[in-house]
Amino acid sequence: MMNKKNIGEVIYSEEDIKKRIRGIANSINRDFKDKEPLLVGILKGSIYFLSDLSRLLDIDHNIDFLSVGRFQTTEGPREKVKITKDLDLSIRNRDIIVVEDIIRTGLTHSYILKNLEPRRPKSINLCVFLDCKDQRLVDLPIKYSGFDMDDRFVIGYGLDYKEKYRNLTFVAEFEE
Ligand code: IMP
Ligand code: MG
Repeated sequence: MMNKKNIGEVIYSEEDIKKRIRGIANSINRDFKDKEPLLVGILKGSIYFLSDLSRLLDIDHNIDFLSVGRFQTTEGPREKVKITKDLDLSIRNRDIIVVEDIIRTGLTHSYILKNLEPRRPKSINLCVFLDCKDQRLVDLPIKYSGFDMDDRFVIGYGLDYKEKYRNLTFVAEFEE
C-alpha cells in the first residue's frame, strides 16, 4: 500500500487540472494551427502532463523526451546540470514546445535552453505545469502556464519526493 502520511493539503484537484489542461490545449491548437510542433517532455516530472495535453491536441504533433540530471561538482558548492538522455528527433527548423513539471529558480530550464538553442529550432515555446514566479533567479519567457505555485514543496501529477508520489492524480503539499 502507498504510504499516505506524507500527502498533505490538496492544492490542485484532478478536476482543476483537467479543466486547466483543456484551456492550454485550446491555446496550443489555436496558436499552432497548420503547424506541426514537437512536444519535448522533460523527464520524468512532465510525463502525466504531457500525455494528458497531447491527447487534447487536434493538430499534428510529435513527442520526444529529454532527461537532465543535477550533480554536485567537487570544486565549489554549485550544482551542475547535464543531459542524461538526449532527444531522438532532430529539432532543426522545428517549432518546439518544451513541457516541464515545475519552474522555480529557472536554472534547470535555462540550462536546457542553452543546450537546445544551438540546434537551431524555428521556435522554442515553454509550457510549464506549475510556475513559482517569486522564486525565479533568471528571467524566462513562459508561454503556457498551468497554475501558479508558491514555495511549498509539492507532490503528485508527475512531481515526486524521492521518486515517489508521481502517480497521484492531484497536486498536494508534501508533509514531512
Ligand atoms: P528550478 O531549476 O529551480 O527551476 O527547479 C525545477 C526542478 O526542480 C523541477 O524540474 C523539478 O524536478 C524540481 N522541483 C522543484 N520544486 C519541486 C517540488 O515542489 N516538487 C517536486 N520537484 C520539484
Ligand atoms: Mg524530482
